[in-house]
Amino acid sequence: MNIQWYPGHMTKARRQIEADLKLVDLVIELVDARIPISSRNPDIDSICAGKPRVVILNRADQSDQQITQAWVDYFSKTLGHSTAAVDARTGNHVGQTAISLARQELKEQIARWKEKGQVGRLIRAMVVGIPNVGKSTFINQVAGRKSAKAGDRPGVTRGKQWVHIENGLDLLDTAGILWPKFEDEQVGLHLAYTGAVKDDIMDVETLGCRLMDDLAEKYPEALQVRYKIEIPRKEPKQDAVAYGYMLLQEAAAKRGFRISGGELDTERMAYILLDEFRGGKLGRFTLEAPEELQK
Ligand code: G4P
Repeated sequence: MNIQWYPGHMTKARRQIEADLKLVDLVIELVDARIPISSRNPDIDSICAGKPRVVILNRADQSDQQITQAWVDYFSKTLGHSTAAVDARTGNHVGQTAISLARQELKEQIARWKEKGQVGRLIRAMVVGIPNVGKSTFINQVAGRKSAKAGDRPGVTRGKQWVHIENGLDLLDTAGILWPKFEDEQVGLHLAYTGAVKDDIMDVETLGCRLMDDLAEKYPEALQVRYKIEIPRKEPKQDAVAYGYMLLQEAAAKRGFRISGGELDTERMAYILLDEFRGGKLGRFTLEAPEELQK
């Protein structure tokens, strides 16, 4: 797999987060609800050690509701973080959710502040997460505005800015960028399926084969309904790419995708599959369940 990553950028971003952590009471970690294992940074616990943490499962509009609930339970009951699943793009109650989770997470601290006479002290928080998980969408939603990323606006320097949210939350305007665990093949695939990393980690047709193979195992009915194909049983040792390619061919045939000479255009079908998967046309999916962490 060809994933571009730059250790230098990672070190710089990590240092920035460590510096910003000194300024906040709380970390809000964003995770992609469709791939809560692959979209987390494996070093998050050591990076944010000692800081209370809220976990937000973002893109809940695109994930499998039942498994998302299992993830909410995992992060809150097993790991002990205040957790919620949200759709940061449409943003129903996102700001309210962030504030109540922050208060819940800092309950004891707030009581201590109160004892010291610091009644109504603002809670300072920063958002962290891997690229594309929805950090700026989330910050804008909580802040109740529609602006672009701070660093993307011409003339705006990325100095430290605080966004003051009603109800007592101060949010650091810049999010901390973390990296996923690229070395793991499954992590790379899941990030590519969801569009978190560019398609060019591998040839698109091969990526389409792998996605077909995964969906045939986890959500066969979605493929049957959308592409009107039968899903034959996979042999125990059958190669994932070969099996996925067969399904890609079936789907291309149903859609009438052919190149000149009459051959099936499986590459076009791979693009369509990835596009429809990411756009939600195939349905809602979660590719990773909490049980996988016990394996
Ligand atoms: P980042 O700061 O972590 O890098 O992520 P960013 O907010 O830029 O979000 C990346 C993409 O994910 C954006 O789409 C954004 O709209 C989308 N997104 C963020 N949160 C959610 C969510 O909860 N649900 C869904 N369905 N999408 C979400 P884009 O296509 O890159 O930009 P745009 O066309 O929306 O402007």
